[in-house]
Amino acid sequence: MQSWNIKQHLDTLFAIRDQLGPVYGSEDLCMLLYSMVRREQPQVVVELGTGLGATTAWVASALKEIGTGRIYTFDNGSHFQDASVKAFLSQLGGELHEFARLSQTGSYEACMDWIFQRVDVADRVQLVKGDIGFDARAAEAVAQGKKIDLLFSDFNHAPKTIIQLLAGYLPYVNTTSAIYIDSAPTHLPSYWMLENLVQMLNAKRIPAAWRHELGAEQLAALRDLVDQCRFQLVHLVEKTPRSQNSTAWIRIAPDDIFPAGATHLRFQ
Ligand SMILES: C[S@@+](CC[C@H](N)C(=O)[O-])C[C@H]1O[C@@H](n2cnc3c(N)ncnc32)[C@H](O)[C@@H]1O
Repeated sequence: MQSWNIKQHLDTLFAIRDQLGPVYGSEDLCMLLYSMVRREQPQVVVELGTGLGATTAWVASALKEIGTGRIYTFDNGSHFQDASVKAFLSQLGGELHEFARLSQTGSYEACMDWIFQRVDVADRVQLVKGDIGFDARAAEAVAQGKKIDLLFSDFNHAPKTIIQLLAGYLPYVNTTSAIYIDSAPTHLPSYWMLENLVQMLNAKRIPAAWRHELGAEQLAALRDLVDQCRFQLVHLVEKTPRSQNSTAWIRIAPDDIFPAGATHLRFQ
């Protein structure tokens, strides 16, 4: 059996990136996440907001290349049903000509399956169709008890969502992990909310609201993470002038004198 080789799928992957990516401004995000997955080799990736599958396809391609890991991607398909999205999809051509036809009659799941099958990454993707909840037990269940290494939230970046998202998912992330929240840095209330929350976490403080809301098990897991780790917040802002052109990146790593995940450390 021939192994998967990205070179055989580049035309389709770039068609997905360049034709579907602009709907959400995610062309560069596809490349960023692809590179990060290749470098850091996460086992469990959770994406909140599949959209039209562009970022999912690129992340799954990186997982195929490293030969391990899975992306669990959540979407209720609401945006796919929009008349404006349907009209946009109907006029796609080239590599996505068949997808254009399918998008008019097929279900959301069938369309996403077409994308993932087309680049032969379906075995790395689990699409969960439904409303995104903040009870991370749902995510934990699909991840079969493993912790999350990379969480990419791309469905809502309001401050309230950020509070719920971090409270819900932090108890389930690994001590070396990354959380990306799209569009948050350039929405000022979200920017300040993230700055404030990360500052609290680095001071080993858990917000009272979370202490009251979380179950005992989740709170213990969160306390453990906060005690062990440091949180680095980077606001990745694109220079391309368009709306929502930013991504917040929270890097979580054990508080240590050595860099997390290093396989070859040199002392001189
Ligand atoms: C910005 S798009 C995702 C784009 C995709 N990650 C990409 O860059 O290629 C956001 C998606 O979230 C979905 N969505 C929004 N709110 C949701 C909710 N509460 N539950 C589930 N899906 C939701 C929409 O249907 C839409 O497809």
